[in-house]
Amino acid sequence: GKILCGVDLGGTKISTGLVDEKGNIIKSIKIPTMAEKGPEEVIKRIEQSVYDVLKEAGLKISDLKGVGIGSPGPLDAKRGVVISPPNLPGWDNVPIVDILSHKLGVEVKLENDANAAAIGEHLFGAGRGIDNFVYITVSTGIGGGVIIQGKLYSGENSNAAEIGHHTINFNGPRCNCGNYGCFEAFASGTAIARFAQEGIQNGKDTMIRDLAKDGVVKSEHVFEAAKLEDEFAEELVDNEAFYLGVGISNIMAFYNPKRIAIGGGVSTQWEMLYDKMMETIKKKALKPNAEVCEVVKAELGENVGVLGAAALLL
Ligand code: BGC
Ligand code: NA
Ligand code: ZN
Repeated sequence: GKILCGVDLGGTKISTGLVDEKGNIIKSIKIPTMAEKGPEEVIKRIEQSVYDVLKEAGLKISDLKGVGIGSPGPLDAKRGVVISPPNLPGWDNVPIVDILSHKLGVEVKLENDANAAAIGEHLFGAGRGIDNFVYITVSTGIGGGVIIQGKLYSGENSNAAEIGHHTINFNGPRCNCGNYGCFEAFASGTAIARFAQEGIQNGKDTMIRDLAKDGVVKSEHVFEAAKLEDEFAEELVDNEAFYLGVGISNIMAFYNPKRIAIGGGVSTQWEMLYDKMMETIKKKALKPNAEVCEVVKAELGENVGVLGAAALLL
């Protein structure tokens, strides 16, 4: 087969798409991950999503070159094993490549979700033609993918650029990885929602809770309230931009990239975050590193995970 199938396994949703070799999405679907049901059920859902997207496109499994999966880490891409992602409860050394290649009867490849997205943006999006490039996703978690001299740097066992878990304040809140004060614990979408929830519990006068119709506060409610000039929400958005600036300054020091592209749900609020984030970078980053580096919004949007995962087969 010639068609590539990319699966973007996320903490809240699974996106599965069919992609041609030029990076055009032929068809894609999105279903809830139902992560709380554990790995066995989630893998069944991935399998089903592959059949469903093929059916919608009028194609069959033999039309596929293979299936690429982008998954939250830590994982071992060479062995095809998902180790223990902080945002996928109950996963413990799951041999997802063996399981799915057996079920589907095609080649299956695994890579860290942000690494796959970095490949996608490098080939088809904001990283085109940029040899030293970093992609950051800010969503349920925070992930990174680093292209050095034109190639993905995946490290010794695919866990390079786990930037969500670099400590930005060791007295900070607990992260889902078990450590304290990780970049992800401060600046992910989940963290924004948690800070909002804490404020509400402490009696802050804010409309955030009213915007969360079913009572579950999410980061988008915070941005919505900030747009309506809710003071507490504006403070949270400002803090978010500051934390992003801190983390990005560190990343500039680590990798000295020419461009950093930011994707993931939180990046859709680009206009609200940009100024404060850049102001922070200007104060904190090493000058020579900041001078050569552009910070941009990722280009491939929602499709980045699927494209990157599909590109694993190229
Ligand atoms: C995981 C990363 C992943 C990121 C985004 C983090 O919690 O450690 O591997 O890339 O979330 O999903
Ligand atoms: Na990564
Ligand atoms: Zn962490």
